[in-house]
Amino acid sequence: MRFTGSLLATGLQLSAVLAKQPSPNKKPNIVFVLTDDQDLHLQSMDYLPLVKKHLTDKGTFYKRHYCTTALCCPSRVTLWTGKLAHNTNVTDVNPPWGGYPKFVSQGLNEAWLPVWLQEAGYDTYYTGKLFNSHSLDTYNKPFPAGWTGSDFLLDPYTYTYMAPRYQRNRDPPVAYEGVNTMEVISQKALGFLDDAISNKDKPFFIGIAPIAPHSDITGGKNGERIWGPPVPLEKHANLFPNAKVPRTPSFNPDVESGASWVRGLHKQGDENVEYNDHYYRQRLRALQSVDELVDDVMKRLEAAKLLDNTYIIYSSDNGFHIGQHRMQPGKMCGYEEDINVPLIIRGPGVPQGAVSDVVTAHVDLAPTIMQLAGMPLRDDFDGAAIPLTKPDQKKAINNLHEHVTVEFWGKALTEGGIVFRPDEPATILNNTYKSLRIIDVKKNDYNFYYSVWCNNEHELYDMKTDPYQMTNLLHPAAKAPKTLLGRPFDAMVARLDALLFVLKSCKHETCVEPWSALHPAGNVKSLKDALNQRFDDFYVKQQKKVRFERCADGLLIDAEGPQFETEGSVYRRDGLHWSEWT
Ligand SMILES: *[C@@H]1O[C@H](CO)[C@@H](O)[C@H](O)[C@H]1NC(C)=O
Ligand SMILES: *[C@@H]1O[C@H](CO)[C@@H](O)[C@H](O)[C@H]1NC(C)=O
Repeated sequence: MRFTGSLLATGLQLSAVLAKQPSPNKKPNIVFVLTDDQDLHLQSMDYLPLVKKHLTDKGTFYKRHYCTTALCCPSRVTLWTGKLAHNTNVTDVNPPWGGYPKFVSQGLNEAWLPVWLQEAGYDTYYTGKLFNSHSLDTYNKPFPAGWTGSDFLLDPYTYTYMAPRYQRNRDPPVAYEGVNTMEVISQKALGFLDDAISNKDKPFFIGIAPIAPHSDITGGKNGERIWGPPVPLEKHANLFPNAKVPRTPSFNPDVESGASWVRGLHKQGDENVEYNDHYYRQRLRALQSVDELVDDVMKRLEAAKLLDNTYIIYSSDNGFHIGQHRMQPGKMCGYEEDINVPLIIRGPGVPQGAVSDVVTAHVDLAPTIMQLAGMPLRDDFDGAAIPLTKPDQKKAINNLHEHVTVEFWGKALTEGGIVFRPDEPATILNNTYKSLRIIDVKKNDYNFYYSVWCNNEHELYDMKTDPYQMTNLLHPAAKAPKTLLGRPFDAMVARLDALLFVLKSCKHETCVEPWSALHPAGNVKSLKDALNQRFDDFYVKQQKKVRFERCADGLLIDAEGPQFETEGSVYRRDGLHWSEWT
């Protein structure tokens, strides 16, 4: 996702902004608050007045920000490396598919943001959850590289609100029995902030990754893991007694929706809905300590007179659903609730109280931070720097950056802690799919979600007319329109499929400018450009279609069907296609 042709300009704009800073030689500080499983679409942001006061009202809210894999570990690895999950092969939370050991064995511990920031002259700090399977056994095999100071939550106690274990620098892990993890992390975060502020010679980066509002997970007597709602601080325990999951059209609907296993779910009964509302309130309550932590952080930055040279970034690793499409609490799906996540950025030159229309994703955040740190962007990034200033945001809209790559492998879990129907177990197999979001940011002419599941079911939602994704236009029973965007329906879908064909295995630049892979002449840069009738044949007849050979739990190329790099067609003016001339 690149803002075509604007990178150089972005760099210049940025240096103009930085030049206005009081200490022009000092690089900006960066504070990154990363919550766990926080939704955007269940309105959790409405319950965080201090985040609003300090960040949303004083910064820019990126309303079209997406995670690319809706699961903690792959999402976080993407965020801190600037690479999509199909390029890190950290696709799940535990080995062999993912987790901290996989991050290490993939060589990523030497090639991620804190290491690069230290090279750029930064002091780097982090507290809270880093990755899954970063545990009592693995925390020092080896230690995560690149941190000046660190205090990590460790598995299997990462999600145990009332008995977490943290591990500081090179010290052994420490248990905090009976203390709420949110109190622990707040103190650690503020301690690191004080350390960072006191070193006046160096700019700093601080990552603060609280567990809220993730489910609580406690070990049972027989080593089993017991899931339940998050545990708020006592003083927040009775807030919002009447709050309920927003009753949108996709909330526990009368008709089935979605595809694959989602379409097979039953409507939830009253007892189930009541429990899920309780679970929802516990999330809002647990988030209150994040709100207060942000307040404390901002007060300290203000007291240290650092606000005019500090960027504050607020986001969540992935989104969350409760009841939409009849699903139990969880994530891991491609629906909007799971992938469209909060992103707020406040800092010098960033418009205040603004809402940006640009389409951005977690894979863009490492490039964004590198650029703030005055570092060149790496050639192997799969994302591009997010435009921060007003002119850059405007330029990005015109340079059209409109897609997000979404991918997932393996199981889906329900995380509420209670199984309401024996025929709907907590672990669902074959939740493997590739999908994309595409939004016309300039004219709002289109807004789609397109997916292909590993059982080869397809989904298409026209989100201009169906924002809650209730009508899958590619379901065999659906009445699809004859034309879409002025093309025959199938010819339009073939374009989305070709785009997904490129994106599902893209590398680097191609992930940012996928249309160039299909049209190397450079005359097609958006879906709109690709709609030209003369390309109908190319998309419908010449291009191979996205297809899975089978459902795999991880990135096994032989399960993933044709690969664009070896079997794709490239449009050429003379009418020949790549497969014909190579
Ligand atoms: C999961 O996918 C595998 C491989 O494609 C298939 O054999 C199996 O029947 C599927 N299981 C379910 C529960 O759908
Ligand atoms: C990804 O990791 C899995 C598990 O280690 C491995 O089997 C697979 O071959 C890897 N995929 C690629 C493309 O390297």
